[in-house]
Amino acid sequence: MTRAMTSPRRRAVGPVEFGRPTGHVAPGPAGTVLGGSIGAMRRDELTLLVDAANRFGDVVRFELGPRAAHVSAHLIRHPDHVHHVLLEARDNYEKSFTYRVLGRILGRGLVTSEGELWTRQRRIIQPIFRHSTIAGFAPLMTAACDDLVRGWDAFAAAGSPVDVAGEMSRLTLDIVGRALFSSDLSADAAAVGPAVGVVLRDVIERLTSPVALATMVVPALPTAANRRTKAALATLDEVVGLLIARRRILPEADRPVDLLSMLLSADDGRNGEAMSDQQVRDEVMTFLIAGHETTANALAWTWYLLSLHPLVARRVRDELSAVLAGRMPAGDEVDKLDYTKAVVQEAMRLYPPVAAIERDAKEDDEIGGYRIPAGTTVIISPWVSHRNPAFWPAPEAFDPERFLDDRPARQPRYTYLPFGAGPRQCIGAAFALQEATIALAALASRFRADLVPGHPIEPQIGVTVRPKHGLRMTLHRAAD
Ligand code: HEM
Repeated sequence: MTRAMTSPRRRAVGPVEFGRPTGHVAPGPAGTVLGGSIGAMRRDELTLLVDAANRFGDVVRFELGPRAAHVSAHLIRHPDHVHHVLLEARDNYEKSFTYRVLGRILGRGLVTSEGELWTRQRRIIQPIFRHSTIAGFAPLMTAACDDLVRGWDAFAAAGSPVDVAGEMSRLTLDIVGRALFSSDLSADAAAVGPAVGVVLRDVIERLTSPVALATMVVPALPTAANRRTKAALATLDEVVGLLIARRRILPEADRPVDLLSMLLSADDGRNGEAMSDQQVRDEVMTFLIAGHETTANALAWTWYLLSLHPLVARRVRDELSAVLAGRMPAGDEVDKLDYTKAVVQEAMRLYPPVAAIERDAKEDDEIGGYRIPAGTTVIISPWVSHRNPAFWPAPEAFDPERFLDDRPARQPRYTYLPFGAGPRQCIGAAFALQEATIALAALASRFRADLVPGHPIEPQIGVTVRPKHGLRMTLHRAAD
C-alpha cells in the first residue's frame, strides 16, 4: 500500500467552496527539470498514469513543462473524487485545453461546446438517442453486419489475414451513416478511417510536444505533420460537406427523419433562425467521428481479447447458438445476450476507448485533502479507474463474469465509466452498447478470429485508444 493511500490527510472530497487555496500539494513523479513528466507521457502515457496511481494514490500531481513554470495536471481515480468533478462541483470545471485542440477538428459540436450553446444543442439532439429510437436502429445495425459477413466469408475461404481494427472501423462508420445520416458511407470508409486516425493523433502530438503546439499557433507552417493533418481534415470536411449538401437539395417533405434532418430543421432557440451552416457542419463532423471511432475500438479490443481467451470465445458462441440458432440478432434479442454483452463491457473495462476525460479547474479547489490550483487540468482516466485494485480484484484479468447477474449493481458508481458521467456523459452510450453487442453476436456466431503470430499489439493513445499496428487476424468459419 502506498504512503498516500494510508495518509491520514486523505479525505473523501473537499468542501464545495472555491477560490480559497487550501490543502497540500499532491504527491507525484518528479519528472525532469525541463519537461516534468511530458517526456514520459509521450513515451507511454497509459503505463505512466497507472503506475503513478498505484505508487502515489488517488490524487497524483504531474509537472507538465519546466519545473519553474509550475504547470501541473492532477490525475484522480477515487469514485468520490470523480463524482465531485463531474457532478457535484461541475460548475467549477470546464472542458480542458485538450478539447480546445480537438475543436480544431470538431469545431463547436456537442463534444467540445460549453454553456448555453451546449445546453441548446443537447436538447435538440437528445430525441434521436431515446431508448425507443435506438431500439429501432437494430435492423440497420444487423444489415450492416450482414454486408460485412459476405466480405469475411471471402477472407476466411482464402485464409488471408485481415486488419480487424480497420474492418470494425468500416462497420461502425457504415452504421453511423445509415442510422444518423440515412446515407451509404461505404465508398468513403477507406479514406475516413485513416483520416480520423491522423487528425486524432495530431491532437495528442500537439498536447505533448511543445514544437507541435507552437505549429498550431502558426498553422500555416508547411511542416510534414501540418500538411498531413490538413489533408486529412480536408478529406473529412469533403465527406461532411457532401452529406449536408445532398440533404439540403431535398424538399423538406422528402427528407428522411434522422439527425441530419433534425439539425437542418432546428432553429437556433433564440430568434427562430435556422442553425448556422457552421454549427450543422460541426455537429455532423462530431457525430461522424465520435459516433464510429470509439465503438470501432471497443470492438477491435474485444476481438483481440477473445483471441487470447478461447474459453470465453467458446462461451460466447454457445450463448449465440442457444439464443439465435444461426439467425442474425433481432433488436429484442439483444437483452437475452447477457454473456455477449458482458464480454463487450469487460473489454471496455480493460481497453476503454476514451482513456482520459479532462477538465480544467476554474477556481482553486481541494480534492482528497490536496490542493487543485485554478487552471490546473484534472484527469479522470477510465483506463486507470478500471484498474484500481481497491475496486477491481485482479484488475488485469479479463473476466466477463464481473458484468453478470447482480454484480454491476453491487459495483460502486463511478468505478466503471467508459462513457463518462454526469451531464456530459456520452449521448451515444446506449446506441454503442446495442451496436457492439449486435456486431459481436452477428460476427462471433459465424467466425473465429486468430491473431497472426508475432503481430505486435500496442495500445496507442490518440484521444481514443487504438491498436497502434492494427489487428492482423486470420478468420475461420466458427464451425471449422
Ligand atoms: C464504445 C463507444 C463509445 C465510448 C467509449 C464513448 C465515450 C464517451 C465519453 C467518455 C464521453 C464523455 C467525454 C467527456 O465527458 O469529456 C463521450 C461523449 C460523447 N459521445 Fe461518446 N462514446 C462512445 C460512442 C458514441 C457514439 C456511438 C456516439 C454517437 C452516435 C457518441 C457521441 C458522443 C457525443 C456527442 C458526446 C458529447 C456529449 C455531451 O457532452 O453532451 N459516442 N463519449
